[in-house]
Amino acid sequence: MSHLFEPWRIADLRLVNRIVIAPMCQYSATDGSANDWHLIHLGHLALSGAGLLIVEATAVSAAGRITPGDLGLYSDANEAALAGVLRAVRSHSKMPMALQLAHAGRKASSRAPWQGGAQIRLGEPGSWPAVAPSAVPHSPHEDAPVALDEAGLERVRREFAEAARRADRLGFDGVEVHAAHGYLLHQFLSPLGNRRDDRYGGSLENRLRFPLEVFDTVRAAFSAGKPVWVRLSATDWVPGAWDIDGSIAFAQALRARGCAAIHVSSGGVSPQQSIPLGPGYQVPFAHRVKDEAGLPTIAVGLITEPEQAEAIVASGQADAVSLARAMLYDPRWPWHAAARLGAQVSAPPQYWRSQPREFKDLFEGAAFGAR
Ligand SMILES: Cc1cc2nc3c(=O)[nH]c(=O)nc-3n(C[C@H](O)[C@H](O)[C@H](O)COP(=O)(O)O)c2cc1C
Repeated sequence: MSHLFEPWRIADLRLVNRIVIAPMCQYSATDGSANDWHLIHLGHLALSGAGLLIVEATAVSAAGRITPGDLGLYSDANEAALAGVLRAVRSHSKMPMALQLAHAGRKASSRAPWQGGAQIRLGEPGSWPAVAPSAVPHSPHEDAPVALDEAGLERVRREFAEAARRADRLGFDGVEVHAAHGYLLHQFLSPLGNRRDDRYGGSLENRLRFPLEVFDTVRAAFSAGKPVWVRLSATDWVPGAWDIDGSIAFAQALRARGCAAIHVSSGGVSPQQSIPLGPGYQVPFAHRVKDEAGLPTIAVGLITEPEQAEAIVASGQADAVSLARAMLYDPRWPWHAAARLGAQVSAPPQYWRSQPREFKDLFEGAAFGAR
């Protein structure tokens, strides 16, 4: 019996297995609005048999986009465009879908990765001013962001709340608050991004304050019966900066506020980072958060093999795994994992005839005939 294919719950949200599709920016929206690309992309991921699909980082404001092509949920037009995509995807998939709500902070106004990913400097076509905890650029040669004042902080909290209400109306089954990868909320957590001397900077307690306030505002704006959780970077991979101990303190504070799970990633706040990349390199962080904060965790990062994913869940290092690149490379990864681990997976009836002879019980409920 495969542990990876055991059902799971994030609070009241039921997942048929413990494979999560990690959020992945597509940099393909227009003014924040989804289009046919998102329908194709999310459509095929939603047929993959995974337990949960987390839609890409979705900006709570135009200024909070990483690139001009980021998905957003800050206008009626954004909401209507996403509604159309979701209607189509849901008509062919029962997979639960969550949305990652994000604000880029000082990493806003960037080019798409396939255009080099550099900052679009102020004054260049398509640029906009970035905001952040402090007027400290991501790297020294870049334009500095504008430090958020009290009114700015209130505006960002309102934007998160409004986007969470829109996500709720769209029927998303959960919301993941993006506090990882060097974006706005991570910038508040990390002393590398946060040089404030008010109650939002300095001590750990102060650096946690704004991300916790944002969590509270999202939690309050999203239906009480549906989970809200957080993705964090467990370490900056820079000595003396944000680390796993701070992450555990953050997770404990989140737990007290009704956070349903932690999605444990790492890095992204500093070009100085030195990451010891390797299979499952972030899993030990998920394990510590699970043990020491007592919250369900999703492990991510170079989890590519079914047996590896199975071992992570079976050994209790994390409750679930999420995959990003492996799912793009092989959108049927959960089918192949189920076949390797002797489990069953749901597939659309149109594809049932593809079930290989040697895996006669792979697709749940599969039956086909002809006259
Ligand atoms: C194309 C692409 C887009 C990504 N976009 C996001 C995103 O929107 N939000 C996020 O938290 N992480 C994002 N990530 C990071 C992934 O979710 C994941 O944490 C990372 O790729 C490591 O997992 P992997 O080894 O399974 O790819 C992205 C990664 C890729 C490859």
